[in-house]
Amino acid sequence: MEKEILLQLHNISVHYGGIRALDDVDISLDEGEIVALMGPNGAGKSTVLKTIFGLAPIRSGKVLWHEKEIKPVSHEIAQRGISFVPQGRRVFSHLTIEENLEIGGFNVSDKNELKRRIAEVMETFSVLKEKRKAKAGTLSGGQQQMLALARGLMTEPKILLLDEPSLGLAPKIVKEVFAKIREINEKHKTAILIVEHNIKSLLSIASRGYILDKGKVVVEDASQKLFESGILEKIFMGKSI
Ligand SMILES: Nc1ncnc2c1ncn2[C@@H]1O[C@H](COP(=O)(O)OP(=O)(O)O)[C@@H](O)[C@H]1O
Ligand SMILES: [Mg+2]
Repeated sequence: MEKEILLQLHNISVHYGGIRALDDVDISLDEGEIVALMGPNGAGKSTVLKTIFGLAPIRSGKVLWHEKEIKPVSHEIAQRGISFVPQGRRVFSHLTIEENLEIGGFNVSDKNELKRRIAEVMETFSVLKEKRKAKAGTLSGGQQQMLALARGLMTEPKILLLDEPSLGLAPKIVKEVFAKIREINEKHKTAILIVEHNIKSLLSIASRGYILDKGKVVVEDASQKLFESGILEKIFMGKSI
């Protein structure tokens, strides 16, 4: 059976003043898949995620949700089941881990359901369970990233938008973060659109990928093909992937 297309960007252009951050971009995400967004700095990767979440000035083009056009507005997008974990591990550092998770579950009005969800994400992220009463600011960088991910799961999203989840983390922790991302996808069939510089780890969990350059999609292919084609070396010339 064909998988349903959850989300599509169709001919999307985004301009910041005179800067063309995205130029006629087509990107789609199917139910339950992990899709990689790659490209050099300034290529427009973060802008793609922000566009979906209603945080970028769309100049032209369409965003489709279940093949129907929508106008992305952040709170509506969250209600539809899309969660955005922006770059930089933005946790509320003077609130406890539990309080951070409660904020993540802002759309859950039933107290017991909120408790159940907190318990569930703590099952996935056991370190957060151990430290539930600790202030988020006391966590290590890796643990804060886990908290940011966990908070993003509190709405039980159908789609998770992740912007550079491994940035600034030690290699061992990067591995753990990627393992968790894969686990989230397998456990809940959450579709994930992920921007990441760690290309090897990224393509090991993603089924497909897009390469952006100067606001355009220059390549789109299956992860395996992207590996085999040598295109990655070309695009990221001189940089380790
Ligand atoms: N808020 C903004 N105001 C002005 N220009 C922006 C803004 N956000 C991004 N840009 C510009 O848009 C382009 C794409 O940025 P971005 O999506 O952050 O790239 P990437 O995530 O691939 O590094 C860059 O040229 C960047 O400088
Ligand atoms: Mg970025």
